[in-house]
Parts: sequence; structure tokens; C-alpha cells
Amino acid sequence: MGNGSSTGAAAAGTWRLGDLEVNRMGFGAMRLPQTGRALIPDAVPRDRDQAIAVLRRAAELGVNHIDTAAFYFSPLRSANELINAALSPYPDGLVIVTKVGPAREPSGQWSAAARPDQLRGQVEENLRQLGRDVLDVVNLRMMPSMTSVAEPFGALADLQRAGLIRHLGVSGVTPAQLAEARAVAPVVCVQNRYGLGASPDEHAFADACGQQGIAFVPFFAIAGSGRGGGAGARTGAAGEPAEVLDIAAAHGVTAAQVRLAWTLHRGPHVLAIPGTGNPDHLEDNVAAGALRLSDDEVALQLSVHPNSD
Ligand SMILES: NC(=O)c1ccc[n+]([C@@H]2O[C@H](COP(=O)([O-])OP(=O)(O)OC[C@H]3O[C@@H](n4cnc5c(N)ncnc54)[C@H](OP(=O)(O)O)[C@@H]3O)[C@@H](O)[C@H]2O)c1
Repeated sequence: MGNGSSTGAAAAGTWRLGDLEVNRMGFGAMRLPQTGRALIPDAVPRDRDQAIAVLRRAAELGVNHIDTAAFYFSPLRSANELINAALSPYPDGLVIVTKVGPAREPSGQWSAAARPDQLRGQVEENLRQLGRDVLDVVNLRMMPSMTSVAEPFGALADLQRAGLIRHLGVSGVTPAQLAEARAVAPVVCVQNRYGLGASPDEHAFADACGQQGIAFVPFFAIAGSGRGGGAGARTGAAGEPAEVLDIAAAHGVTAAQVRLAWTLHRGPHVLAIPGTGNPDHLEDNVAAGALRLSDDEVALQLSVHPNSD
């Protein structure tokens, strides 16, 4: 897997999730099952061949860190099933990170988040869909209804001891919740919403993860306030602040590439998992790993904060 050179997904270097080394430029699978808004019951299924081609091209480009979840599905398409169909037998070194906690009915409606005793079922669902015996990394995705981290994270630590999971992470957490999880078991990654325009507290948390040797994996780095609706749903004039467009023009790249590269410049522990079902966007995203921004560009404070609500 990968081309072993400093091009493609390897251009931004590597990071270790526990004992698993990944290229810092990865891929998020949430956009694959549908076009348009994700995680809604009546989402429009994406063309299957296109989704599979995007995954195979990502692997060709050296992407060896894929983020997914069993609840990433649309009518007819499942992200995990697409990954399995496109990439298995899996190449050595491919790290698939999944997340548990949130739950959707077969209809696509959200249902109550999993109780701790239901997490084994979610882990096994991911194992079946991905066709693996062990999950590389499982993130506990905290939901507003989940008050305790320790109890569900403890349930995942039990599954780790039972050999179903190699490493654990957390998602949608505060610094206090990360500390609570770490008191239960080692945490290899934090997956939180983050990108250009984030708040001082969010910047501080991203830094703190690095200081603790934990990968920080932003989601919505491109989509920003467009969230599940995607980059096209971002609010604000033309959706993209002039400061970002200026940097993009200076480098001859797109605003999306600037946003991605900016996250990678926040520290060697920051991993990118851009989501796309568009083959051209995939190429752009991987190429963004080679983009080098100046210190001034990295220090950019946006007058409009497209990553906030
Ligand atoms: N832990 C969590 O709670 C959580 C929540 C959300 C997402 N995630 C994970 O994080 C990953 C990233 O989040 P995301 O996919 O929502 O958002 P994202 O990577 O920030 O952006 C995706 C959006 O930007 C567009 N896009 C991607 N590359 C582009 C490019 N080069 N140029 C222009 N537009 C581009 C996509 O549309 P096109 O398809 O048209 O390219 C889509 O609308 C997800 O795939 C998922 O694996 C985790």
C-alpha cells in the first residue's frame, strides 16, 4: 500500500496510532454512501462504482488511514461495505478507524445512543461489515445523552482486552472527558470538530492532545459550519472568507486545500480525514498534504468564523 515516497498521502509525514503507523493524510468515508447531505433517511445513494473507485484511488495514492462507522449509510449504500468491497483483501498497513456510540434505525432515523452494554453489538457489527477479526481503532463518539465517559469507555476497554479492538480513541469530547477516558485505558486519538476559525479553547485542546502524545483528528475541516450538509452548505458570503481565498490564490490551490493543509500545520500529531466521493476532490485533498504554508498563513485569524455555528 502506498508508494513509499514523500509524495501522495505520505507527503505530510506519518504518525503512530499506538503501534500502527499511518500517513497523516487520510480519508473519511462519511461522504461515500450518498451525494449531498449525509446521515439523513432520504439521502440520495451515491453511484457504487464511483464510491469504490474513490476508495481504490485513495489507497493507490498512499492513504492508509480510513475513518468510518457502521452508521455511515444511505438507502442502498454502507460505508463499511464499500470499504470491504473496494479494498479487501486489505493491504498490509491499512488502518481502519471506526466509531461507536451513535445509532441509526435501518430507516436511517437516529435512535438512542448505545448503552454501554450495547457497544459490543456495535463493535461486532463493524467487524462483520468490514470483514475483520479485530478493529484497528475504535473511537467512542460521545453524544449529548451520554453523561459518563468512564462507563462506555470501560465497556470498550473490556472488548479491547477480549481481543476485538487493538486501540481506543474518543470523539466529540472535552478535555475533561479525555482525562476521564485516559483514567480508564490508553487513548490513541481524539476526533473532534476543528478547522480554520476554531475558538481559542479548541486550539488549546488540539495542542494539548499533541502534548499528551495523542493524535488529534479533525472532522469538518473543509465543511466547517456546513457540517453534514458539506462544504456547499457553509454559511456566509460566498461560503469562503477572502483571507482563505487569498492564500489559495497565492499558492495556486483551492480553498479546500488550504483548509486541509492548515490543519496539518497545527502539529505533527494532527491527522487529516477529508471526506469526499468526488475523484477530483480526492486528488486535490491528497495533494494538499504537500502544501507548505507560511507561519503568517498558519496564524491566520478569520474575521468571519466559518467553522463556528
Ligand atoms: N466523529 C464525528 O463525530 C464525525 C463527524 C463528522 C465526520 N466525521 C468523519 O470526518 C470525515 C470528514 O468530515 P466530512 O466528510 O463531513 O467533512 P470535510 O472533510 O470537512 O468536508 C467534506 C465536504 O467538503 C467537500 N469537499 C471535500 N474535498 C473537497 C475539495 N477538495 N474541494 C471542494 N470540496 C471538497 C465534500 O463534498 P464532495 O463529496 O463534493 O467532495 C463535502 O461536502 C468524515 O468523512 C467522517 O469520516 C466524524
